[in-house]
Amino acid sequence: MIICRAPINIAIIKYWGKLEGFESENVANNPSLSVTLDIDHVFTETKVHVSPGDGQVLFKLNNTLQEPTKRMKKVLSKFPTHEKKIFIESVNNFPTGAGMASSASGMAALVLALDKALNTNYEGKALCEIARLGSGSACRSVYGGFVEWNGNSVEQVFTANHWPELRCLLLITNGEEKRFPSTTAMQTTVETSDLYSLRREIAIKRIGCLKRSIEEKDFSSFAKICMQESNQLHALCLDSFPPIHYLNDKAFAIMDRIHEMNRECTIAAYTFDAGPNAFIFCLEENLFKVREGLRGFGEMIECRVGDGPIVTCTD
Ligand code: PMV
Repeated sequence: MIICRAPINIAIIKYWGKLEGFESENVANNPSLSVTLDIDHVFTETKVHVSPGDGQVLFKLNNTLQEPTKRMKKVLSKFPTHEKKIFIESVNNFPTGAGMASSASGMAALVLALDKALNTNYEGKALCEIARLGSGSACRSVYGGFVEWNGNSVEQVFTANHWPELRCLLLITNGEEKRFPSTTAMQTTVETSDLYSLRREIAIKRIGCLKRSIEEKDFSSFAKICMQESNQLHALCLDSFPPIHYLNDKAFAIMDRIHEMNRECTIAAYTFDAGPNAFIFCLEENLFKVREGLRGFGEMIECRVGDGPIVTCTD
């Protein structure tokens, strides 16, 4: 039996929309850059047990037996499962499908656990490509630190300890499952948003500026790009037709509160994925102030930048 624990990653430069002609492989239309969070707080843990059989796959998610999803089947097709019975048990220690990157940690944990359990020994590049088949953003959870994904390439651009003072507070405003699954939502944006034609160029330009701000540990420029990117993702969603919206009243109130807190000096930055739960970046020295300022909005989980997935059991 193999147990693998994989972290979530939060995109600062967001992936939104697939490259025309490469939709089934989840190749992104624009490059993205994310921060892998530590696995001490938020993670997917996946157990894979292999025994002799005829290719059956049993899958339990959060203790409920269910059919393997289409995305999982794509991932499984890359592994030698014939004449075997595979039992996969996956648990998220945070809300599933609520815009908190559970598909990223889930698919990364699955791929790494299958690779170990079935002795395929795929290289990093292949593991990323298989994880990407399950969920685009999952390819970034294969590595720790600051990770850039561009087309077929995924690489760590800064290590997890490059900026040790950086913290990320997860602020859970609503743990319910999202109303608009990201694959169909992205497709609607690509097909209907007039603003979307600008997206690729903007992401490319911002990724360069973001890397400079991380390299120089310049929090205020990091924060500005981070918030602008989040806002652009949600603006593109609203520009889609029919419109897609992930943010709730609390999310907008959190955004306002952070801009208020930043009036004299930038101490915090928000980013939201496909859901109303906030990821708040700040430096360690401002943690107390930021936590106090955001009191009452929901449960807070404090994370650091993490080293990436680990195998916790190889019985
Ligand atoms: O990997 P998916 O299909 O769940 O899409 C993720 C999209 C965002 O989380 C909104 C952005 C990103 O880059 O992670």
